Amino acid sequence: MKVIILATAEEVGDHAARAIITGVSAGTISVLGVATGSSPLPIYRALAAHRAADLHTLTAYALDEYVGLPAAHPQSYRSVIDAEVTIPLGLDPDRVHVPDGSAVDIEAACVSYDLAIADSGGIDLQILGIGGDGHIGFNEPTSSFASRTRVKTLAPQTRADNARFFESIDDVPVHCITQGLGTIMEAKQILLVALGATKASAVAAAVEGPITSMCPASILQMHPDATVILDSAAASKLRLTAYYHYVAAHLPIWQR
Ligand code: F6R
Repeated sequence: MKVIILATAEEVGDHAARAIITGVSAGTISVLGVATGSSPLPIYRALAAHRAADLHTLTAYALDEYVGLPAAHPQSYRSVIDAEVTIPLGLDPDRVHVPDGSAVDIEAACVSYDLAIADSGGIDLQILGIGGDGHIGFNEPTSSFASRTRVKTLAPQTRADNARFFESIDDVPVHCITQGLGTIMEAKQILLVALGATKASAVAAAVEGPITSMCPASILQMHPDATVILDSAAASKLRLTAYYHYVAAHLPIWQR
C-alpha cells in the first residue's frame, strides 16, 4: 500500500482531488466509487472547486445505503450523495447510483447493483473511509473477503458513531446494503482517506497489521493499486512513518 501522510484534512482533500482530476483528464477514471461520512468531505469540497474539469462526464457508484430509510430521507445515502457529490460536482443524476435500500426485493437489488457496476466497466477509482473497527463500506469485522454487495447488520459501535447524523441513536437503521469486500477489491484503484486520532488504531491495523477479517480494511494490502492518505493524527499509530515520508521525498521521477 502507498501511504501518504499530510498535515491537515484540507491537504488530504486537495491531494486526493488532484489524483482524481488527473485521472479524469487522462481518461483513466470515468467510473468513480464514492463514500459517504465525514472523511471524504474535504475531497468533494476540493473537487467542487474544480468543476471546470470534466467531472460531469463521470458515472458514480455509492458504497452503501441504509435499509428502510426512504430515499427522500435527509440521511439516506441517496440524499447525502445528492447533496455532497452530485449537485456540488455537477454530475448527471442519472449516472449516480446508490443501492436501493427501499427495494421490495432487497436481495435482488444487491445482485443487480453488482451487475450494474460490471455493466459500467467496473469502478476505476474507489474512494473509501474507514471505521474505527476497520470496516470499509459497511463490511464489519469478520466480513468475508469474497463478499459481494449484500445486506449487513451494522455493529452497535457503527450505529453509535453515525448517531451524530440523526436525532437519536434509535433512528439509525440496523441494516444496510453495502458493496462487499470482493466488490470493492475489483476497483482498479483504491483511495482510502482517514482523518483524526479516532482512526489511528484502525489505520495501523489496516496498513501494518496482519491481513485478517477482524480488520476488513487489511484486505487492501492485497490490492495492486491502493493508496492511503492520512492526516498526521490518523497516522499517529503507524510504526514506519519515517519510511513513508522517505518514500514521498524520493519518488521516482515519473511519479512526481
Ligand atoms: C460510508 C462508509 C463507511 C465510512 C466509515 C467512516 O459510505 O462506507 O465505511 O467511510 O464509517 O465514516 P466517517 O468518514 O464518517 O468517519
